[in-house]
Amino acid sequence: MTESVAPPPAGRAVVRLVAGMPTSDGAGVRLTRVIGTPALDALDPFLMLDEFGSSDPSAYIAGFPDHPHRGFETITYMLDGRMRHRDNHGNEGLLTAGSMQWMTAGRGIVHSEMPEQEQGLMRGFQLWLNLPASDKMRPAEYRDVAPADIPVVSLPGGGRVKVLAGRFGGVEGPAPARATAPLYLDVELPAGAGLAAAVPVGHAAFLYVYEGEVSVGETAVVAPKLAELGPGEALTATATAGPARFLVIAGKPLKEPVARYGPFVMNTPAEIHQAISDFQRGAF
Ligand code: FE2
Repeated sequence: MTESVAPPPAGRAVVRLVAGMPTSDGAGVRLTRVIGTPALDALDPFLMLDEFGSSDPSAYIAGFPDHPHRGFETITYMLDGRMRHRDNHGNEGLLTAGSMQWMTAGRGIVHSEMPEQEQGLMRGFQLWLNLPASDKMRPAEYRDVAPADIPVVSLPGGGRVKVLAGRFGGVEGPAPARATAPLYLDVELPAGAGLAAAVPVGHAAFLYVYEGEVSVGETAVVAPKLAELGPGEALTATATAGPARFLVIAGKPLKEPVARYGPFVMNTPAEIHQAISDFQRGAF
């Protein structure tokens, strides 16, 4: 009788480290763009990742007045502060610390994202997730996820994982089902603790370390830094130099042509021209 023993899962290694780029967007909100820069144009299916964080109201108070989107989704995750969302489909929501907003622009939305505070810390992330060609013109959708509706998994060696999308530790995040099957975790580790997470084979995956330092295999990732991960089915990351906080984000690549013009992300230049003309004639 032979006994088969499963080999240990192949760990994903860091293949590239990328620093974000300071920039401003909206009416003058200062932020760090991590994906969507000359250094890292996109990481299919992710089109953009912005980190915002400041205690200086002049860095955020102008907010993001009315602007359009078409063809993808924006996922906003707040660590601190309050932002008010309003859109032309009649949705309104208040993003508070620890909450997530999942907005599907689909065929078109015009929205504003404005700070609802005049002082104090405003901090969080906005991720742009592409939609496949077949979903780009789906109706717009908006959902607010309260902090209490984001599952938190305690790690055996200390620390915790908030599951915003995908599966971890036997729980499923509150994200809608998508062709890209996104995984989005917010991880907090005390010094010396580690995370072992399954990351679906074939998914593009990265870490964004926003506090402290995390080691993946031989590579140290020091905040603030994105670490793109190579192929494999699992991720092991350890807080090697004090406590650390980081995002783990992964998704199935769409491998479709991308035509991008500001807030419109389609497959062809003709679809971009159509988006501009639809927006101008008020068809969003
Ligand atoms: Fe927006």
